[in-house]
Amino acid sequence: MSDFVTLVEVGPRDGLQNEQHPLATTDKVALIQRLAETGLRVIEAGALVSPKAVPQMADSADVLRALDLDAGVRYPVLVPNEKGLQRALQAGVREIAVFAAASDSFSQKNIGCDVAASLERYQPVVEQARAAGCRVRGYVSCVMGCPYEGKVPLSRVVEVSRALAGMGCDEISLGDTIGSGNPRLTRQLIQAVAAELPLSQLAVHFHDTWGMAVANVYQALELGIRIVDCAVAGLGGCPYAPGATGNVATEEIVHLCTGLGLETGVDLRALAETGWWLSNRLGRLPASRVSLALRARC
Ligand code: HMG
Ligand code: MG
Repeated sequence: MSDFVTLVEVGPRDGLQNEQHPLATTDKVALIQRLAETGLRVIEAGALVSPKAVPQMADSADVLRALDLDAGVRYPVLVPNEKGLQRALQAGVREIAVFAAASDSFSQKNIGCDVAASLERYQPVVEQARAAGCRVRGYVSCVMGCPYEGKVPLSRVVEVSRALAGMGCDEISLGDTIGSGNPRLTRQLIQAVAAELPLSQLAVHFHDTWGMAVANVYQALELGIRIVDCAVAGLGGCPYAPGATGNVATEEIVHLCTGLGLETGVDLRALAETGWWLSNRLGRLPASRVSLALRARC
């Protein structure tokens, strides 16, 4: 099994989509450039969604235009429909992410249709993206619970994951959108999905609402998962998942991986500095214990 863990930094998208006061476009670009300098090689750069649905992402195309998309870093962007894909291709994007859910109620609130309709909507998006040479990531949200429906059956998560992989998604990110998971559920989730799809195709995406995200990532790593979504300074949240807090902090995952003898290629100190830089701009402390511990030692 590989010793390398690919971190998918979702801070500039998942992290900033829920901020009450949007960060300036120039600061978003600076954030992404700083993150790339820490060694991160996959940075979700924004979302080409309706600005009415998520005003915080209204400038994502401008952010993309300011980045060097050829610099050896992957910059996936969220795309909810064919219009989003056209905008992505115009901006020169090489990787998109479509985002489905395992719960109809969440899907309805988030993207205005139920799960079955979303999969129908994504089919041509994925086909066209692949024909244009784009890599495609498929999210499944609410894999461990829905803010509107409560419990979500594992069979539903497996079904949606299989559907996304079947339509051509290269990678499936399993999202604990409301952070209600725990290591036991994580083991059951991964075993169930990995019975249908290769482990190497799976990523995990934990929010830390109940403080279980690091434990969940540890469980996933123990089971052989090698792609982990995380957000600098523990930013994050979804406007359509009330009460959910940030993603697991990237700083925590780099520290965890180092402790486990796994490589991430990320300079923890530079990353923590970037987390402080961003948190200062947002007027708060980083939601990262590792970052606070590092600062206390200086
Ligand atoms: P709708 O209102 O049903 O769409 O929204 P519509 O086709 O009727 O269009 C409405 C308006 O939006 C029109 O403009 C369209 O042109 C425009 P108007 O004529 O009213 O001026 N529009 C767009 N504009 C720009 N880019 C587009 C686009 N599409 C339509 N791509 C829609 C449906 C899907 C568009 C909307 O609900 C939407 O954009 N939703 C996105 C919500 C979102 O981004 N949520 C957060 C991300 S998901 C998440 O956080 C979970 C995740 O992190 C994993 C986890 O944690 O589990 C991924
Ligand atoms: Mg998320």
